[in-house]
Amino acid sequence: MCGIAGYIGQRNAIDVVYDQLKRLEYRGYDSAGIAYLNGSGINILKRAGKLSELGKLMGQRPDECGLAIGHSRWATHGGPTDTNAHPHFDRYEQVAIIHNGIIENYLELKTELIKDGHEFRSETDTEVAAHVIGAEYASGVPLEEAVRRGVKQLRGAYALVVMSKREPGKIVAVRNASPLVLGVGQDENLLASDIPALLPYTRDIVILEENTIATVTQHAIVLTDGDGRELPLKTEHIEWDVAAAEKGGYEHFMLKEIHEQPDVMRQVIAGRIDDEGNIRLDKVFSDFVWHEIDRVNIIACGTALHAGMMAKHLFEKLLRLPTDCYYSSEFRYGDPVLSPRSLAIFISQSGETADSLAALRLCKEKRIRTLGIVNVVGSSIARECDRTIYTQAGPEISVASTKAYTAQVMTLILLALYIAQVKEMPGVRVPEIAAELKGMGDRAKVILGLEPQVVKLAEQVRRAPLFFFMGRGADAYVALEGALKLKEIAYIPTVECPAGEMKHGPLALVSDGVMAVFGASESDVRDKIVSNMREIQARGGTVLAITTEDDAIVERVANVTLKIPNGPFDFLDALLTIIPMQLLAYHVARLNGCEIDQPRNLAKSVTVE
Ligand code: F6R
Repeated sequence: MCGIAGYIGQRNAIDVVYDQLKRLEYRGYDSAGIAYLNGSGINILKRAGKLSELGKLMGQRPDECGLAIGHSRWATHGGPTDTNAHPHFDRYEQVAIIHNGIIENYLELKTELIKDGHEFRSETDTEVAAHVIGAEYASGVPLEEAVRRGVKQLRGAYALVVMSKREPGKIVAVRNASPLVLGVGQDENLLASDIPALLPYTRDIVILEENTIATVTQHAIVLTDGDGRELPLKTEHIEWDVAAAEKGGYEHFMLKEIHEQPDVMRQVIAGRIDDEGNIRLDKVFSDFVWHEIDRVNIIACGTALHAGMMAKHLFEKLLRLPTDCYYSSEFRYGDPVLSPRSLAIFISQSGETADSLAALRLCKEKRIRTLGIVNVVGSSIARECDRTIYTQAGPEISVASTKAYTAQVMTLILLALYIAQVKEMPGVRVPEIAAELKGMGDRAKVILGLEPQVVKLAEQVRRAPLFFFMGRGADAYVALEGALKLKEIAYIPTVECPAGEMKHGPLALVSDGVMAVFGASESDVRDKIVSNMREIQARGGTVLAITTEDDAIVERVANVTLKIPNGPFDFLDALLTIIPMQLLAYHVARLNGCEIDQPRNLAKSVTVE
């Protein structure tokens, strides 16, 4: 997500940290800031917008020092403003903090701190962490001890970097589920969220382990655990070039983003499901009267619309709430019938898609309630919708969407559970489904382990002239997204439809060499899916089935089977089947020599009609 930089040594730390932030620009950000020590204490410079804005501010106050920390922020809590940009001070301006990740319990902590007289300038969770650590530091303990005590009060994912006025020769860092690397130099040491920000200075790095605290000084790095015991320092030498380092060692951003999905699935629900399995979206929906809503219209384009179709399936199945899905481009010119009791949901990764934005403005003119499901904080759709839930997937660089899709579907599932909770629907097992959502990241991780099998399969099928993608129930909607991935990046024609539709026309296209990918996670319709597979095989097609581990029937029939771990809810299994499909599209495209991250004719954000 956001970028972290830090330096201590003989060079001008301000210049080094600015340079490090420049090297992290490719990840996307919406504000940036830097903190350094000078004679009077800690100086913080920060600005919304591009790094050059921060550069201008720095130009107005040229300074030099040997220690600095810097941050490029991709907004999650609070919009992209100067005030919300990092670093943040504690109450006494003794420590300055930068942070990646999400502090789940920041509202509870903030309420307690306000009772104790703390005042907050920003809307961020990071400032709360700064006050928690600052309060510990005020008791006179060393900085690393204050951090150790402070993080014991934080729940969530974080990589935190802290500097202090009282101990000017030291930077302290800690991480839990957000990455942080240290660079070991000659009479200088560095910190960063990603390796590219270290490479011009050193190739010797230390990957900070979970819950480890690093005390970084000019000549040493000391690691300690949560009890203050010293830990061994393992240094690795990095051979990657800068381009490879930007992609985390993966060949393409798309593959990196596919592999980020376990973490993204955890991030989506961070702070939104409590220990009892209740869904916490109250802040978004304060004063919202769900009982007045009798219909939902989901409006989006491409992948985002496919995520919306999964929501339609769920809203109708779980909530019995009539739901329609519209292409934004059709909605805006189609004169749709809109009930005043309806809710219009706009799904968008970028939040800037022109057709979706125009459809949103149309709904607003007609005084229809609007809700955005958006990834980019502060984007037009996020700002203009009455309410917005952010998908918290982090910046997506590859044009073909992968992690944004899983984040959108996860967010919509959370929304469905929230509606069931508010409406007190006894038939929806909210805590049980919520518990399963918490395990989705782990299941996704296991599925990524199928990659070697997918590579072999891709080698066999990469010349197929046509791919079918099919399923029933939720699988039918995931099939649409699987097909889009292959079309977009491997340029192979696809036919995608509910498996039951096949006989009504598309079957005419099946002949020798055609490949059919079936999502087969819906147990209720297994027999029907098996018949559809046989119909394909009888006409010379080859069947790949993606099914659950306990399924022996589908496996017996399919030519190739990929198995995902079992779960109690079919719609969650269905969502997970997208991962092998994404991997298949990626490896077919790679083996065929296609341009993966920037496929021909396509753009990441479609801001024109
Ligand atoms: C496909 C893809 C597109 C987008 C669509 C909407 O991989 O990324 O189909 O989903 O252009 O974009 P957003 O979500 O930014 O509104």
